[in-house]
Amino acid sequence: MSVFADPAIFADGLPAAAPKFGGLPRYNFIGGHNDPVHVPIEGLVQAAADVIRREGKDLAFYNLAKGPQGHPGLRAVVADKLKRHRGIDAPADDVLITTGSGQAINMITRMMVNAGDTVLLEEFCYAGSITRFKAAGAKVLAMKVDDEGIDMDALAAQLASLKAQGVRPKFIYTIPTIQNPTGSVLPLDRRHRLIALCREYGVPIFEDECYADLVWAGSAPPALYGLAPDLVLHIGSFSKTLAPALRLGYIVTPWSIMSKLIPLKADSGTGALDQMIVAEYFGKHFDKHVPHLTAVLNDKLATMVEAVEREFGTHAELYKPKGGIFLWIKLPDSVDVTKLLKPAADVGVAFNPGPEWAIDPVTSKSHLRLCFGSASKEDINEGVKLFAKVCFENTGIPPRSDNVANR
Ligand SMILES: Cc1ncc(COP(=O)(O)O)c(C=O)c1O
Repeated sequence: MSVFADPAIFADGLPAAAPKFGGLPRYNFIGGHNDPVHVPIEGLVQAAADVIRREGKDLAFYNLAKGPQGHPGLRAVVADKLKRHRGIDAPADDVLITTGSGQAINMITRMMVNAGDTVLLEEFCYAGSITRFKAAGAKVLAMKVDDEGIDMDALAAQLASLKAQGVRPKFIYTIPTIQNPTGSVLPLDRRHRLIALCREYGVPIFEDECYADLVWAGSAPPALYGLAPDLVLHIGSFSKTLAPALRLGYIVTPWSIMSKLIPLKADSGTGALDQMIVAEYFGKHFDKHVPHLTAVLNDKLATMVEAVEREFGTHAELYKPKGGIFLWIKLPDSVDVTKLLKPAADVGVAFNPGPEWAIDPVTSKSHLRLCFGSASKEDINEGVKLFAKVCFENTGIPPRSDNVANR
């Protein structure tokens, strides 16, 4: 018998073992995938050829002999786009390239969170952050949100109450610009109020702008980092503007904090070819590719909204996103979406259940998140129709009288 059959060989507290990958579902509305039709293949081929011919020799060195903060050209692309689109005036020297922004979350969590610390998150929130903060032993508290993001009156009361209990949160983690999963954009006045509250209570802000480049309106209020660089840690990603398989994200912060973060990036460098190619491609084409992709995504959202409204009628409450790739939906209270996972999977439909995207799994049991990024319009229509059928068969919702045509 293998020595690895003995559980005592392994460390304590490992996550649950992974299931074997069985292929993506036919109607895949989960995860944060991008549109395969709009990966700019020829542009990437050209960029790869150009940059490898010019800089390929650097691949002989860890970190391309350019140091642990990442490819200088890519850091310049980040600094430039943040200046022009997000109101952030930070030099390329304040940019650290990471292996996806997921690594940035890991590093910042490691830098700031001790077991037992309190952190505040939007009540509906990116599952990857909730699990990472919890894994570090943080006590995760929900901030109330509405369709414009964090409710500032509620937050003011919450911070006052925590202070009365002697609790100073380690940080407020927020996705202010295209929130995941609700798709909201925090208005400017609320941004100022958030900053004022955080100054008053001495609480840093951890700003995650994973989707901020994909805003329907073309622009959003400035990033929190742009408004208060001394109070905010800022992260972003190339997963949503280009491709998640590339594994490129970034942290923006001055050297005083950068110097604490670099030792926590224990991977001998983010993939250098990814960095070189994206620097070359986005150095020339960011302003063409991103608005084009955003328009494509907005069009797919319209298809998904129509499909959900057609199939569910008034039984689905939609949080229409202001950008990005997700539609957040609330079904009637009687529906427990977790009970729909298996029957939906049996007909090839995958969706994200609300409880995994929320701090309170009970009050979010009727919510779900659908990604419209990667599915074709045809698959969106067919998949939503199948999902409504599964929902009706298992819960009686949506009632047949509201939606007889398709059954
Ligand atoms: C809000 C948010 N932050 C961070 C990430 C991590 O993305 P990546 O590691 O691909 O940059 C995601 C992924 O979907 C996300 O939704």
